Amino acid sequence: MKNYSNIFKPTKKNLIKAAKILKNSGIVALPTETVYGLAANAYSAKAIHKVYQLKKRPKKNPLIVHFDTLNSIKKETEPNLYLNKLFNKFSPGPITYVLKLKKSSRISRKLTNQSGTVACRVPANSYFRKMIKLTKTPLAAPSANVSNHVSPTSAKDVYDEFGKKIKFILDGKQSKIGLESTVINLIDKPNILRPGKISITEIKRVIKNVKKNKSKKILSPGQLKKHYSPGIPMYLDKTKPKIDGAYITFGKTSLKGKNIFNLSKQGSLEEVGKKLYQKLRFIKKQGFKNISVKKIPNQGIGIAINDRLKRASS
Ligand code: TXA
Ligand code: MG
Repeated sequence: MKNYSNIFKPTKKNLIKAAKILKNSGIVALPTETVYGLAANAYSAKAIHKVYQLKKRPKKNPLIVHFDTLNSIKKETEPNLYLNKLFNKFSPGPITYVLKLKKSSRISRKLTNQSGTVACRVPANSYFRKMIKLTKTPLAAPSANVSNHVSPTSAKDVYDEFGKKIKFILDGKQSKIGLESTVINLIDKPNILRPGKISITEIKRVIKNVKKNKSKKILSPGQLKKHYSPGIPMYLDKTKPKIDGAYITFGKTSLKGKNIFNLSKQGSLEEVGKKLYQKLRFIKKQGFKNISVKKIPNQGIGIAINDRLKRASS
């Protein structure tokens, strides 16, 4: 039996306890609407160092910093032509803006890969924003998984990644979206570095000249292939499971059995996105040897799902 004594309910007392840990350059895992994050004081080099060590994350892969307001982002970053419009439409929510860091900013350069830029997000999750208010500092938070593993969408998933190596995991139930935020670079010509729930089509309605990032040069190391791996082979665009394998599908199907996982009987891709990581973890735990997945239409949130599936299967 697992002993989940480091998972805490989001009571006022527990939030204050978590804030204390953060203020002392400690690490806590917090829920967001996308996935759970491993939070650290963004001003503290010591705290940031701990995050990289815990995650076994390459130093060159920069972290996202979470804020509670647009003004607090502006305090740390150079003025940007696109930020106001996008922020008013999509934030707080599952979108991250890459901006130029002000020279005067106290944000630890350790988390920026010395790039002179910083990725900024205001999460919709109210507990997370409450933690920013209580600590009075922006919080760096990569997804709360060991590098290259699937992102966690529940407190227990975080426990499975780190066990007691983190003192405090805040239980905010299952993440509503289940896929990491859209990352958009707003320096020079806006371009999407990582697709997410907020699609390029939606973004184009607000700023016209946005591009998918096609450049071979990796701007966002999270774009590296082999990422989000469930730890067993995955096969995409399949119509049935392979031997000893599980099958992930959605919508109507005639397939039946313990190895068939229908993520959305209504065929909603939002629902597929929400349950995907949770099911990949479950399937691996059940001892299946591989996972086949039905073809996902490449539109809307389907673009983000396909992006993660491609990395998981490479
Ligand atoms: O939904 C999310 O974004 C979650 C929750 C916890 O907020 N966080 C998350 O963080 O997914 P992480 O560290 O797993 O992914 C951050 C991505 C990586 O692909 C990283 O390379 C990119 O953002 N990134 C961070 N800072 C950057 C920067 N200054 N320039 C370009 N890409 C950056
Ligand atoms: Mg991650």
